[in-house]
Amino acid sequence: MIYSRIEGTGRYLPERILTNAELEKKVDTTDEWIRTRTGVEQRHVAAEDEKTSDLCLAAAKNAMEAAGITADEIDLIVVGTTTPDLIFPNVATIVQERLGIHGCPAFSIEAACTGFIYALAVTDKFIRTGATKCALVIGAEVITKLVDWSDRSTCVLFGDGAGAVIVKPSEEEGIISTHLGADGQYLDLLYYPVGVSSNLEKAGIVEEARILMKGNEVFKVAVKTLGNVATEALEANGIDKSELDWLIPHQANLRIIQATAKRLGLPMDKVIQTVQIHGNTSAASVPLALDVAVRDGRIKRGQLLLLEGFGGGFTWGSILLRY
Ligand code: ACO
Repeated sequence: MIYSRIEGTGRYLPERILTNAELEKKVDTTDEWIRTRTGVEQRHVAAEDEKTSDLCLAAAKNAMEAAGITADEIDLIVVGTTTPDLIFPNVATIVQERLGIHGCPAFSIEAACTGFIYALAVTDKFIRTGATKCALVIGAEVITKLVDWSDRSTCVLFGDGAGAVIVKPSEEEGIISTHLGADGQYLDLLYYPVGVSSNLEKAGIVEEARILMKGNEVFKVAVKTLGNVATEALEANGIDKSELDWLIPHQANLRIIQATAKRLGLPMDKVIQTVQIHGNTSAASVPLALDVAVRDGRIKRGQLLLLEGFGGGFTWGSILLRY
């Protein structure tokens, strides 16, 4: 049996840190409100000229170093992102070029905050069929470039960053199962109203281009769905939650993470949390949290991890793996 195994992890966060205290000066909010409602204390913000591919490249190099591989070994690049450099070519091809390699398949997956989970699940299929021997999988976002800094209901939530993993086939246990889902009926709860084939701002249907979110409703569906997709992965493998070493959920809001853990009956000391220092980095949140916990020594080889994501669409997914 061939498994996909994570050989190394990496991350990159833009230099600029924006604190809640600074946000207090920009909009009608308080550090206390942001901390108690979201858990966020600070977030990183990409520079004006910093692109998603810049973040991807730095995170990729970090992961390659951890895995002890060179760029010429990579034969697949998949990037989960909602904020690509350009509409085309896709950002994975830009990363490929900047790594100095040519010819291997390189594509992006657009699944909002679930982008990395989708990217890793798709990569797992490539590895298991024997098509891929060394994949670079990235979740990256410069979502603050979509943020309306005068809208206090959304601007306090988001941050930028990139997380990457190198995945190779192995006879040792790695990714055990992946579970993806989506339901487009929820578009209205969370979306950005500008695209190539529709510009609702120009059409006069919405007043201005900004992230449109019904926060309370997103909250409820997120908690329910993150609970369900975690249970789905455990049940599919006959694994009890007590066997899990770590849950690595999408870092949208500390209260969503706490409610999800409660629903699953998992203590918070088994849940990796980075939302406090990164904010919601969308597709980057899970690989960033993974890398933080691998590098600080909490996550160890042989441990059982459950990764899960939830994002606009809605899209969702979970991945059970032996690290
Ligand atoms: N500072 C101060 N007050 C604020 C702020 C702010 N930044 N934002 C909203 N408020 C006010 C509101 O105007 C409202 O005032 P009112 O009672 O006078 O009308 C009050 O605070 C309560 O607002 P709610 O929206 O009910 O606050 P809630 O406790 O639901 O928290 C939040 C809002 C944080 C957005 C929450 O609903 C949430 O996290 N939802 C999930 C959405 C999410 O995570 N989206 C991210 C992208 S999706 C994803 O990653 C899954």
